[in-house]
Amino acid sequence: MNFKHKRITILGYGSQGRAQALNLKESGCNVVVGLRLESSSFKKAKKDHISALPISEAIQDTHLICFLISDEFQGKVYDQYVKPALKPGMTLVFAHGFSVVFKLIPKFPPFIDIVLIAPKVSGMQLRNSYLKKEDVTSLASVYQNASGKAWEVAKAYSKAIGCQNMIKSTFREETISNLFGEQTVKCGGVLDLMKLSYETLVKAGISPKVAFIECIQGMKSMIDLVETQSFKGLQKFISPIAYYGGISRGRRLVNEAQKKELKNILKEIKSGQFAKEWMSKNS
Ligand SMILES: NC(=O)c1ccc[n+]([C@@H]2O[C@H](COP(=O)([O-])OP(=O)(O)OC[C@H]3O[C@@H](n4cnc5c(N)ncnc54)[C@H](OP(=O)(O)O)[C@@H]3O)[C@@H](O)[C@H]2O)c1
Repeated sequence: MNFKHKRITILGYGSQGRAQALNLKESGCNVVVGLRLESSSFKKAKKDHISALPISEAIQDTHLICFLISDEFQGKVYDQYVKPALKPGMTLVFAHGFSVVFKLIPKFPPFIDIVLIAPKVSGMQLRNSYLKKEDVTSLASVYQNASGKAWEVAKAYSKAIGCQNMIKSTFREETISNLFGEQTVKCGGVLDLMKLSYETLVKAGISPKVAFIECIQGMKSMIDLVETQSFKGLQKFISPIAYYGGISRGRRLVNEAQKKELKNILKEIKSGQFAKEWMSKNS
């Protein structure tokens, strides 16, 4: 597919917007960024030599519109600017399925393509990996394939932002798993436990440096081990005392009560209760 002749409009210039716009530009694509009028990101884009326009202008005569604005505002921006500008042959790209799955955008015209390319790292990591020529994984899905070429577009887009390793998923699977992971391991739950463990050691007189090495850096090496050796294989790489301490004391921290709570958290996400709560905080 000749992707480089297509005009790509990136909406938003935050974590993902900046990284994807820069990676696309350096992959030879024709990129423009669309920003709200009062946005402080105009300056940032100018400094990066990325062309930035008000949203209403950036979406004119474009082929791809990428929603890299905060999830909670995507419905409003779609209604106000994107919907009236849609034409056959255009593709909408999402980096997270939230606004589609929870119907912030309830309906799309049938003549456009809609795809998901969700990089599984932060914008900063996506940019750094691209500069180091290291590939990043994305979850990918096609929601609507009016042209019959949506997968080709999705593949070309994912490659151009630095994500050749695409894992086929669905908008719903990506959204539910991502929200769950954020709430239980990546941003809450496990992260809270790491912080609390660190604070407990420091308050008991262990130096912050040693506590940091133990509770934060130590986690990093354990995660690498789990990733390469699996949970089961881990036992071979840790000492018998560490293994015994983990199974005999770990269950005091994570047990049936947490198992039940994990199920409750997942239920709130799947039913849309969490999405409703989040949107009520942003109305
Ligand atoms: N961050 C990640 O690690 C990550 C990873 C994968 C996928 N994603 C997805 O990528 C998308 C973007 O997330 P992000 O983390 O990059 O966001 P972000 O860093 O918070 O940046 C949000 C951008 O949205 C713009 N914006 C906010 N409200 C707006 C409005 N009402 N109208 C127009 N523009 C508005 C902001 O513009 P101003 O400059 O004017 O404030 C900013 O440029 C989301 O769908 C997110 O779920 C994020």
